Amino acid sequence: MKKMQVNVKLGSNSYPIILGPGLLNTSKILFKKYIPKCKKILIVTDKGTPDKYRKTLLSNLKNFKVTTIVFRSGEETKNLKNIDKLLAILFKQKLSRDDCIIALGGGVIGDLSGFAASIFKRGIHFIQIPTTLLSQVDSSIGGKTGVNAREGKNMIGSFYQPRFVLIDPDTLNSLSVRDLFSGFAEVLKYGLIMNKNFFEWLEKNAYEMLFTRDIKLLTYAIKESCKCKALVVEKDEKEKNLRAILNFGHTFAHAFESAQNYSKDLTHGEAVLIGMFIASHLSKKLGLLKEKELTRIVDLYNELNLHSELDYFFTEKDIPKLLGFMRQDKKIVGGKIKLVLLERIGKAMLKQSDLNTHVKKILQDHFRGF
Ligand SMILES: NC(=O)c1ccc[n+]([C@@H]2O[C@H](COP(=O)([O-])OP(=O)(O)OC[C@H]3O[C@@H](n4cnc5c(N)ncnc54)[C@H](O)[C@@H]3O)[C@@H](O)[C@H]2O)c1
Repeated sequence: MKKMQVNVKLGSNSYPIILGPGLLNTSKILFKKYIPKCKKILIVTDKGTPDKYRKTLLSNLKNFKVTTIVFRSGEETKNLKNIDKLLAILFKQKLSRDDCIIALGGGVIGDLSGFAASIFKRGIHFIQIPTTLLSQVDSSIGGKTGVNAREGKNMIGSFYQPRFVLIDPDTLNSLSVRDLFSGFAEVLKYGLIMNKNFFEWLEKNAYEMLFTRDIKLLTYAIKESCKCKALVVEKDEKEKNLRAILNFGHTFAHAFESAQNYSKDLTHGEAVLIGMFIASHLSKKLGLLKEKELTRIVDLYNELNLHSELDYFFTEKDIPKLLGFMRQDKKIVGGKIKLVLLERIGKAMLKQSDLNTHVKKILQDHFRGF
């Protein structure tokens, strides 16, 4: 299959997302083209990212002096201590601003190494090689980098764009089913909030794509998702307005994750899938989304078995606690929360919704089975 490219147009911070199965094997040429003055490279990865990808990458970096650091997998890796560790290596190996950091792994590694790249000598070249579906369609695009603080997730960070993003969908062969479906939450989100054609394509192809991991279908879905994210980021690089629509389902998801203390039992993607399902029902209830369209969304959830068991974690009695977490959201004004809802499939909008009536009621409906 041919190599494809999606450009993220951000003036002097523009960069390409280069995409294609097997691309990791032929990445040498990209390094020469995009970081011509680079001599030293720091590869940042984690234990859960299979070794074979690092080996393939290394075989394409023979002309560089390469150092590798392998972190433990998991959200806990995104902390300031590890930023300190990365900075220490960068100083010790004497990397200059012409040199480069490569993030090889999922969103955790991308966020962590991107932040280190943004602060080392006020910015060293940074390349993203995302290897999970979530990182390929979401976290590697848009330049948000950062780590977690005691006070909250992603509370320390910067906007810092990579020189390029290299996506090899073949890396998804080794991904766990859970991580594949977690990433799919974001893929489906793009169809729902901004691209009806893509939603219709997913209606026809998502089942085969997810259950057989057909590489052509996966590549197409990743490319369309990257195009959607690039479009939003280009219009609103620093998250002042439009970028908010990317939070569809996420306000609910954050409440579920917070109430679960970010336990691994409920992944972010699973929480987003539930959040989008509830937000779609709320959209219908508030007279925005037509019944017919809601039915199509519900049908797709049923076909792909996307329902995570919220009842396994919470009961109706937990609603006050969930509302409590939503109340802490920065989008709250006078008991009303700005939620991303669907006007129709393929078109999202921001709407003030009352926490004590609309949101509470839709959560009750959810626990009672709509
Ligand atoms: N910067 C952004 O805009 C943005 C957007 C969304 C999410 N995020 C962040 O992304 C993170 C989640 O990313 P994630 O879902 O990729 O999780 P992750 O990075 O924890 O990866 C999930 C697991 O998959 C393993 N893995 C990676 N590649 C693999 C492969 N090819 N085969 C098998 N296993 C593989 C990892 O080692 C890890 O154990 C969160 O920290 C979240 O805050 C950032």
